[in-house]
Amino acid sequence: MNLEGCRTLLTGAGSGIGRCLALALGARGARLVLVGRNATRLTEVAREIVRAGGYALAVAHDLSAPAGHDQLVLSATNRLGGIDLLINNAGVAGFGEFATEDPAGIDNLINTNITAPLLLTRAVLPAMLESGTGRIVNVGSILGSIGFPHFAAYSASKFALRGFSEALRRELAGSGIGVTYVAPRTTRTTLNSDTLYELSAASGTAVDDPATVAAIIVEAIAADRDEIYIGWPEKLAVRLNALLPRLISLAIGKQVAAARQLLRTTGPRPATAPSIDKYE
Ligand SMILES: NC(=O)c1ccc[n+]([C@@H]2O[C@H](COP(=O)([O-])OP(=O)(O)OC[C@H]3O[C@@H](n4cnc5c(N)ncnc54)[C@H](OP(=O)(O)O)[C@@H]3O)[C@@H](O)[C@H]2O)c1
Repeated sequence: MNLEGCRTLLTGAGSGIGRCLALALGARGARLVLVGRNATRLTEVAREIVRAGGYALAVAHDLSAPAGHDQLVLSATNRLGGIDLLINNAGVAGFGEFATEDPAGIDNLINTNITAPLLLTRAVLPAMLESGTGRIVNVGSILGSIGFPHFAAYSASKFALRGFSEALRRELAGSGIGVTYVAPRTTRTTLNSDTLYELSAASGTAVDDPATVAAIIVEAIAADRDEIYIGWPEKLAVRLNALLPRLISLAIGKQVAAARQLLRTTGPRPATAPSIDKYE
């Protein structure tokens, strides 16, 4: 895909991988609408792109809301004159014991990580199908192929995003529209808590820099790649998990034990008690 002049709707552009993606795409000549909840951070990123000679607009929008996805796409279409590229990058993560997860947190995670990408994709597709060109990029995770303990809801959402990407790619074959699924490994952003980075350091797990991850994603888009898994030995672990899941259970044993120990020390997160009238 030619990125020069590429009309792009990018979610989660105010920080981390999304911010680096915005800057890298802006530098390659893409025209961007940047989406996130924090208007100040988005505006700063848009200004940085404009100062460097690019084109970017910030649109504050909460993707976890039940409605408004069609309007967001309509507004971006009007501002850019169409959409060639949708990048579903916004996401939230949760690390902890599933038994004590807050139901509202699970709702937010599912709405942001999977429902919003589905609804935004649905909203951009009719115009792309009419023009016979376009690309959808879904930012998943290595945990979208390896169900990881203490990331149960997050893994569920990324497995769903991977399944959606594969199904849609097959459905759109021959239409001129491509679907790219990207699976980063642990990356140093505000998505993860300091505790997680401490665990990664203790277990010797690599942590990527968001600018490096963004550069890999930009190249994958430019090369019309279907899938990209970032990092070694994570790529191998994804394949092994599909064939020999018990081997991966054994391999991650130490990490899981360390996480359990840490969660025991910090204590379980309080479960939200359902109020009687809410569930009656
Ligand atoms: N960091 C990692 O270890 C890692 C590994 C694999 C995959 N990933 C994936 O990479 C993607 C980017 O994450 P990141 O690591 O760059 O983390 P990040 O810095 O926390 O970025 C996530 C972005 O999503 C936006 N966002 C969250 N909830 C939103 C909502 N309801 N509506 C609109 N925007 C929302 C946030 O912006 P606002 O706060 O302004 O809304 C934020 O800019 C995610 O899909 C994540 O799952 C990350």
